[in-house]
Amino acid sequence: MRVATEKIPITKPSITALEIEYVNDAVANGWGSKCYDYIYRFEREFATYQNSKFALATSSCTGAIHLALLALGVKEGDEVIVPEITWIATVEPILYIGAKPVFVDVLPNTWCIDPSKIEEAISPKTKVIIPVHVYGNLCEMDAIMQIATKNSLVVLEDAAEALGSEYNGKKAGSIGDAGVFSFHGTKTISSGEGGMLVTNREDVLERAKILNDHGRNPKIGKMFWMGEYGYKYKISNLQAAMGCAQIERAHELIEKKRLIFTWYKSQFNDTEKFSMNPEFKDTFNSYWMPTIVFSKDININRERLFEFLKQSNIDSRPFFYPLSSLPMFESNRSNGVSYDIYERAINLPSFYDMKREDVNFVSEKILQFITKS
Ligand SMILES: Cc1ncc(COP(=O)(O)O)c(C=O)c1O
Repeated sequence: MRVATEKIPITKPSITALEIEYVNDAVANGWGSKCYDYIYRFEREFATYQNSKFALATSSCTGAIHLALLALGVKEGDEVIVPEITWIATVEPILYIGAKPVFVDVLPNTWCIDPSKIEEAISPKTKVIIPVHVYGNLCEMDAIMQIATKNSLVVLEDAAEALGSEYNGKKAGSIGDAGVFSFHGTKTISSGEGGMLVTNREDVLERAKILNDHGRNPKIGKMFWMGEYGYKYKISNLQAAMGCAQIERAHELIEKKRLIFTWYKSQFNDTEKFSMNPEFKDTFNSYWMPTIVFSKDININRERLFEFLKQSNIDSRPFFYPLSSLPMFESNRSNGVSYDIYERAINLPSFYDMKREDVNFVSEKILQFITKS
């Protein structure tokens, strides 16, 4: 039996000579008149990759969400529709503004927001819907866009986890009024920390740029004059240099994610027992995070499973808790799918250098745990 001598991490970036070359160049030369070169290049290349008109690089996706919500006109007291299942960073910027997140249940197969439940959550205060393409899976964007149009709402796609995923031939993040991405070290492409806001709406880009520059409006043209207060979520040129190398390698990085997913899928192919990230007709899943939902009759104790995997030097992660179950929110157990799934679901390791034997090792351990329990 193989023993993992080194910890199998959940994810980590793939660093090649290209990332090192660009970051070295930025650190040696990217100052003075060149201090924005990699930032502008990253924005241009990202917009081209997404087929979006505009891109604004930020220090995090959380910052990009904050800027996007403000640029889309969200104000104190407004309501924003979000899925129960997502990372907390989707929701925190809503709270920064003093607006209210309204949690909507997810679909049992994609774990993304259920369009049929969105309309009943809309009130006169609703401004924005945030579909989150969780773990690389695609939200049902046609239905969501139709609901938004019918109710005069705007859509901010949280594609932090779905770089490279496609819906009807369009990149996740490029379908709504704006989209956001994360380049945190766990993501498919990374800049250490970093984010991106994409949009086809010039008004949204212009507003986000002003807010991201302490409220300075370039049209006013008076140095150090601020007409309002703003924020600073600017990415650094060093981080953008790494981002430039990674976006050039996006295809290769995503193909490896897909390969790893097929390796897992071949081990967990019993659909009676396991559901994994789906890929439906007309979608392309970049499988950021291979995820298993165990069937109810397996009766999985996920805390014990994490402990068991940890003893074998394997890192794994819990599927997100329903956000309304966290202490700062009002619990909404009527979001039954979310509350039903999370305790029997986990995320599996997937990083570029992962080998088939690592995937087999992780899978064997999980299967062994299930047989024992
Ligand atoms: C769905 C989702 N939204 C937003 C974020 C925030 O990204 P960042 O850590 O770059 O702020 C993340 C990152 O983990 C995420 O998974």
